[in-house]
Parts: sequence; structure tokens; C-alpha cells
Amino acid sequence: MKLDKLFLERKSVRSFSNEKIDKSIIIQLLDAARVAPSAVNYQPWRFFVCTSDDIKQKITESYPRKWFATAPLYIVACADKSQSWKRASDQKDHGNIDVAIAITHLMLKATELGLGTCWVCNFDVDILNDALNLDKVLEPVAIIPIGYPSSEASPKEEQSKKRKYIDEFTEWM
Ligand SMILES: Cc1cc2nc3c(=O)[nH]c(=O)nc-3n(C[C@H](O)[C@H](O)[C@H](O)COP(=O)(O)O)c2cc1C
Repeated sequence: MKLDKLFLERKSVRSFSNEKIDKSIIIQLLDAARVAPSAVNYQPWRFFVCTSDDIKQKITESYPRKWFATAPLYIVACADKSQSWKRASDQKDHGNIDVAIAITHLMLKATELGLGTCWVCNFDVDILNDALNLDKVLEPVAIIPIGYPSSEASPKEEQSKKRKYIDEFTEWM
């Protein structure tokens, strides 16, 4: 798919069919994330691919929304603070930025494959840490619910391409 079309096609999907996603498809998503750029090429990401009922139940407790629970797959994207680059001048940790870029790659690939995704950051971090038994060096950046959009997914999402105009966010110097 042409890039401009892909950008417009990607939208937050908040209603999924219960169709399972083949492992070969999941591998394609991870492969798209794998080639993302990162500071100093440190690639400080860890992805938890969650498909079992037990783990999915725990994840939904961290973000209890009806629509969220319809996803057949969650990928929890984490930044590994022991691997991320810190800028010398102010120690800024770039792990979150790197993970966000990798997630964006993954989401655009998902869109190309006909899958729906949504960024979710409004989770309860303690519940999620417990659910995945996350090591202290891992910071969960986002949960990405992934699935084939259900027939109800489209109308509401139509409004989602409301964006600022270029002049509202650009300074020409
Ligand atoms: C960093 C980030 C965090 C977000 N967290 C949530 C969330 O917790 N729950 C949710 O329903 N949507 C969440 N979203 C989705 C945004 O609401 C959505 O991207 C925005 O409204 C634009 O719509 P679009 O994705 O359809 O283009 C998040 C998006 C981003 C980029």
C-alpha cells in the first residue's frame, strides 16, 4: 500500500472480531518493529505477545474497557532501561522514543495486513507489571490490542482523522 494511503488507513480500532491471528502474521508485525531506527541502534525494546486466555484476562484488568477485552491479541511494548541510550548532556533516556517508533512500524504493518490496532497507555501500571511479572528495568510503554476490525468498528472511527492544520504546529524560520 502507498505510504500516504497507509497513514490515512491507520486509525484507532476499538472493536475486534474474535478471529485469531496466525503466528506467521504476528512474526510479520514483529519484523516491522525490528527494523525501526533507535538511538545509537541500541534497540532497547521488549515485546510481550499475549494470546493465552489467562494472560489476556490479567491484561484487561489493567485497562478495564469492554472494547479492549474483545482483542484476540495484545502486544505489550516495553522499554528496557538497562539498554536504552541516555544523552550525555542531560541523561535523557531515549528508550520510550525508540519503543514508540517501533510500535508505529508495527501498527502500520498491521494496517497493511488488514488488522486493527489502538495505542493504549491509560493502563494501571502496577496491575500490568504484576500481570507480566515485569523486571524493574522494563517500563511498559503501551499495550497494543490487535485484531481484525469487527463490523461495528468503522463509523465512530471516521471522526478520528481530525488534525491540526500545518500552520498551527509549524514555525518557519
Ligand atoms: C501515546 C498514545 C496513548 C494513547 N492511549 C490511549 C488509551 O489509553 N486509550 C485509547 O482508547 N486510545 C488511546 N490512544 C489513541 C488516541 O486516542 C488516538 O490515536 C487519537 O485520538 C487519534 O485517532 P486515530 O488513532 O484514530 O488517528 C493513544 C494514542 C497515543 C499516541
